[in-house]
Amino acid sequence: MTLPAAPVEIVHYLPAHHLERSLRADVRAGLTAVPKTMPPKWFYDRRGSELFERITGLPEYYLTRAEREILARHAPEMAAACPAETLIELGSGSSRKTPLLLSALKAAGSLRRYVSVDVSDSALAAAAASLAPLFPDLTLQAVAADFETQLQVLPHEGRRMVAFLGGTIGNLERAQRAVFLRNIRQLLGPGGGSLLVGTDLVKPAGILVPAYDDAAGVTADFNRNLLRVLNRELGADFDVEAFDHAAVWNPAEERIEMRLRATRPMQVNLPGADLTVGFEQGEELLTEISAKFRPEGIAAELAEAGLEVAGQWTDAGGRFAMTLARAV
Ligand code: SAH
Ligand code: AVI
Repeated sequence: MTLPAAPVEIVHYLPAHHLERSLRADVRAGLTAVPKTMPPKWFYDRRGSELFERITGLPEYYLTRAEREILARHAPEMAAACPAETLIELGSGSSRKTPLLLSALKAAGSLRRYVSVDVSDSALAAAAASLAPLFPDLTLQAVAADFETQLQVLPHEGRRMVAFLGGTIGNLERAQRAVFLRNIRQLLGPGGGSLLVGTDLVKPAGILVPAYDDAAGVTADFNRNLLRVLNRELGADFDVEAFDHAAVWNPAEERIEMRLRATRPMQVNLPGADLTVGFEQGEELLTEISAKFRPEGIAAELAEAGLEVAGQWTDAGGRFAMTLARAV
């Protein structure tokens, strides 16, 4: 008889009143900026995490399938190159692709522990529940923390591999990525350790734009979810349906920009942030950037942070890359 796996406890490192205080600060900065902007981490309440999961199965959204293909083929090589005792996954979400990596690291004989890190409690809980029965002899830890500001709370001992999958690194601006990668380098310390990072690659706008503006409207719903979060958490009165979803390819920056466009002039009250903001008709709120990369650019950004490429793989269609880097 197999005993049911014990529930995995979520360790909370997000500061008390994180939602109210950090969201309030981001709103006060972002909605008074020109143009208006918000960090994408606020999409991911329970509904936002579920919507993202639906996005990963859309015919237009090739990223998840491409990354899964790379892991299915090359995870054993990655594990052999960097046999870690602890796998730390940042922005782990549903951890759906992670079993490919966990199995390879287990087969390499090294793995003892998996630490998932996300701002979304609901995603952490669902992922832990599905992984526990698959890996009964691994120590599973779920950590609610912000990977931009709280890497110091993660394990600093043993041989570690940090995985940052899905292309989420592209949701950070170039300067934010530089700080983030330096922080990873510091987390890995002098004893080595590695970073495995997934990046979407530059490709024609005709493929990229539909990936972020699907026919079924799931990405539009995901984008508008930010406004629902603001309405609930800050008592705001956004008329969610009065904003159109837009996905725009910015060729100079080589990134997709997701925006919410006001379809009429509006005054929006956000009492939880002591703020009232006006939108002109057609005015846009930038809700997410999704940078697309070139292989040599990835290596250069890693090198700047003291991380040396140990391997790089793409899917057969050359759409997505995974890069393994060692701390030097
Ligand atoms: N890695 C998964 C999920 C990607 S979605 C995949 O490849 O499919 C991005 C995930 O990052 C979401 O689960 C979101 O909640 C999380 N996230 C976004 N910003 C974050 C931050 N600053 N700190 C921690 N997690 C974050
Ligand atoms: C999580 N991240 C990598 C996704 C992306 O493709 O940039 C988020 C997303 N936004 C719209 N669709 C998916």
